Amino acid sequence: MKGRLLLSISLVLLLQFASAKFNVEKSSLRVTSPESLKDVYGSAIGNFGVPKYGGTLHGGVIYPKSNQKACKSFDDFDLAFKPKPGGLPVFLLVDRGDCYFTTKAWNAQNAGAAAVLVTDDRVEPLITMDTPEEDAASETYLNNITIPSALITKRLGDSFKKALESGEMVNVYLDWRESLPHPDERVEYEFWTNSNDECGAKCDMQLDFVRDFKGMAQVLEKKGFTQFTPHYITWYCPEAFVLSKQCKSQCINHGRYCAPDPEQDFSTGYDGKDVVIQNLYQLCAFRVANESHKPWVWWDYVTDFAARCPMKDKKYTTDCANEVLKSLGFDMKKMSDCIGDPEADSDNPVLKAEQDEQVGKGDRGDVTILPTLVINNRQYRGKLDKSAVLKAICSGFEETTEPSICLSTDVETNECLDNNGGCWEDKAGKITACKDTFRGRVCECPVVQGVKFVGDGYTECKASGTGRCAINNGGCWNGTKDGKSYSACSNDNSEGCKCPIGFKGDGVNNCEDVDECKEKTACQCRNCQCRNTWGSYECTCGGNLLYMREHDTCISKEAAKVGWGFLWVIFLGLAVAGAGAYAVYKYRLRSYMDSEIRAIMAQYMPLENQGEVANRVQHADI
Ligand SMILES: *[C@@H]1O[C@H](CO)[C@@H](O)[C@H](O)[C@H]1NC(C)=O
Ligand SMILES: *[C@@H]1O[C@H](CO)[C@@H](O)[C@H](O)[C@H]1NC(C)=O
Ligand SMILES: *[C@@H]1O[C@H](CO)[C@@H](O)[C@H](O)[C@H]1NC(C)=O
Repeated sequence: MKGRLLLSISLVLLLQFASAKFNVEKSSLRVTSPESLKDVYGSAIGNFGVPKYGGTLHGGVIYPKSNQKACKSFDDFDLAFKPKPGGLPVFLLVDRGDCYFTTKAWNAQNAGAAAVLVTDDRVEPLITMDTPEEDAASETYLNNITIPSALITKRLGDSFKKALESGEMVNVYLDWRESLPHPDERVEYEFWTNSNDECGAKCDMQLDFVRDFKGMAQVLEKKGFTQFTPHYITWYCPEAFVLSKQCKSQCINHGRYCAPDPEQDFSTGYDGKDVVIQNLYQLCAFRVANESHKPWVWWDYVTDFAARCPMKDKKYTTDCANEVLKSLGFDMKKMSDCIGDPEADSDNPVLKAEQDEQVGKGDRGDVTILPTLVINNRQYRGKLDKSAVLKAICSGFEETTEPSICLSTDVETNECLDNNGGCWEDKAGKITACKDTFRGRVCECPVVQGVKFVGDGYTECKASGTGRCAINNGGCWNGTKDGKSYSACSNDNSEGCKCPIGFKGDGVNNCEDVDECKEKTACQCRNCQCRNTWGSYECTCGGNLLYMREHDTCISKEAAKVGWGFLWVIFLGLAVAGAGAYAVYKYRLRSYMDSEIRAIMAQYMPLENQGEVANRVQHADI
């Protein structure tokens, strides 16, 4: 009962702040279709999932036929929203109500949606959708929500439903490019946190984040890209309760600075007071480190304290804190000056300053959600996750001044995991044109092992230049069979693929063996026997002849022994001799015929030149 009372006191305190000024952080939602709805609308960024700070996301809106509040798994309704390859990502439109926002987002994500648009169920200004304070079920998946969520007004939601009902396509862009101011080359950010380590999922998430983000935060800070400040929320005890047991256990400095009991049960475990003191230690650790120009040591102190002095081991004490400080080389005198006397009935300047900071300034509303990151004086929305937060910080730099860490693989948008971001990839799925950047994915042909790929990045990238065959065989076909290897890539031919001799095809996807025997392109000599092989053929000649592959003919084995060139000399010689002999024969024959005819004719008629008749027997020597 006492616990309840305490809780209600702190709630009163909380409400005092909540009633002040709360800004809803927004992303813009640009409708590109249908024509009648074309415009830019506001949407409230949900405080879970991964909003794409600095980027945009294009999608088609779908309103499910059933499970319209997305409180149940879409599997139970046989509904899925994963687009086919090349299709627009699906923005699932769901109704507010009946279950947690996080449950809706989780069900939408599991059904393949790329983003969830929750339509408000009442006419009111936009609110921020937050994670549930206490819900064991959602704790298990809270950190696995990676899709962004946005709340839209009832009016816009109704217009979407109407358009969809009449068969129109609703396409929208979610745009986070202006969600954070990005005025210059340094990002100022604050982390509103708490040293309490026993508040369930929220505390675990907060500690995991500090541990994960530490390395990155320290690099950014050391190089002067960021200016980081941690903040701790405290409440004060109303005058009337200052002397009550409750305020005494929850507050220090006579009710000036309080924190709720960690277990919400003030009869056991640690008291709110212990939390305020540890918060003060962490604040002072930052102050002292900052004075010696090493503000990043705060990250070391907080992670070391969480690891070495957890509540569950009953080590959440000032003694343990002092040990951690000593091991990090803190100036203990400066530390105790900063901490002061928690029992004193006077202000603590450090905690006083924190209370003043809590009140919103400029664009920034009061900080009421813990933990909260404030980047360039704007509250960050989305899950506390290393890459999601880095992306948000990166979007806070003036364009082109972002540090290289923002363009590295550390900022995974995961957009390449899905359908390869719509970019080109090789058949094996190993080389891709999809590049994750904090502004979203880009499709750009890569350079792999010094080999440049050229193309549009979406439908085609081809390895080019020398050495291209070394990578994935230049994107060309290759094959091995019966111990023989063939490739359609050649390094001298700096573009394209060509099937090797003995194959036909496009050279990229396939090269097919040419059946030389069937297609009668070789081994067509008489009595030859043709046998096709992979990439070639075998030919055997009939009789005792040998097959000459280059000339596709058969020759005798002797001739083959002598050699083809020599044979030609003989052949030519014979031919010349033969032709000569023939000419002589022809001449002789004619002379003989002539004299014979003359002789015969001479027997019947007188001839003038009798002298020639004597020659008639001369034919015998032919
Ligand atoms: C969340 O993700 C982690 C690791 O990625 C996985 O082990 C766990 O099962 C997931 N939880 C749920 C509820 O899907
Ligand atoms: C940290 O130090 C810088 C300058 O070194 C100063 O501008 C800044 O206000 C300090 N922050 C705090 C919280 O003391
Ligand atoms: C094809 O080429 C690739 C890359 O050059 C090589 O790793 C692979 O073993 C080759 N495959 C065959 C079947 O020859």
